[in-house]
Amino acid sequence: MGQVAYTKLSQHTGVEIHGVDLRKPMDPDVVREIYGLFVENCVVLFRDQDLTQDDLVRATANFGELAEPARPTEFRPAGMQRMNPKIMLITNIREDGKPIGALPDGEMWFHHDTIHRPLPTKATLLYSVEVPTYGGETVFSNLFAAYDELPADLKAKIDGRMARNAFSFNSTYKDDPNAVAARNEAVHPAVRTHEDNGRKAIYLDRLMSQEVIGLSKEENEEVLNRIFDHIEQPKYLYEHKWRKGDALMWDNRSSIHARKDFPADQIRLMWRTVINGTQKPV
Ligand SMILES: [Fe+2]
Repeated sequence: MGQVAYTKLSQHTGVEIHGVDLRKPMDPDVVREIYGLFVENCVVLFRDQDLTQDDLVRATANFGELAEPARPTEFRPAGMQRMNPKIMLITNIREDGKPIGALPDGEMWFHHDTIHRPLPTKATLLYSVEVPTYGGETVFSNLFAAYDELPADLKAKIDGRMARNAFSFNSTYKDDPNAVAARNEAVHPAVRTHEDNGRKAIYLDRLMSQEVIGLSKEENEEVLNRIFDHIEQPKYLYEHKWRKGDALMWDNRSSIHARKDFPADQIRLMWRTVINGTQKPV
């Protein structure tokens, strides 16, 4: 019997964990149980937290090795220089007209964090410090469930194939003219087998996946668009409406997420930590 109380947030995606104060040291059995829920449900949510930057770093370390922010120094905005180096500042706050954090504005298409790197990160943890009165929701999709229900003709197109993924820093949709030139690319399996539970998940997303290698240009266009439409269906989604003090951790091996638009004249400020991947996608 588990000792962690939780409720499901949607049919396939996300659970809310109850009764855990992330400032406190966590019993290893509790960590194991929460990690199991995270692997099966792709997203775990802890509400009503009150964390310092150091608390957030310590809480993240329960679940794996913290990554240093991957962003090259020249793309690290001013506000981040004042943060704990393990935390990325995500905000639309500006000083002298320049954003002080990363990914400042508006909508962002569905993606896996760092699928564009050779060893993608395992998990991302986002903690909300200030939220707008509406908008800015993060939407998650469970790609185990989406793979299980993928039509057979699409499965046949991607099973056993590799895909090319790319990202330009600051781009929030494909071919975004605001993207800076530095571009990262990595080739990974189009279907990924999760190292913790052995389940298969689609490993493609609308923002970063460029092509399935071995398919023609026309075939890629058709296959990828059908897969993106399939994995973004409402039945797989959990849409998180942020409240101040939410800490939410998601699995980058088995889920994608997107950000909805929010009012430019309201502040949104989040702290983000990242857990290193432990093996290359297979
Ligand atoms: Fe992201």
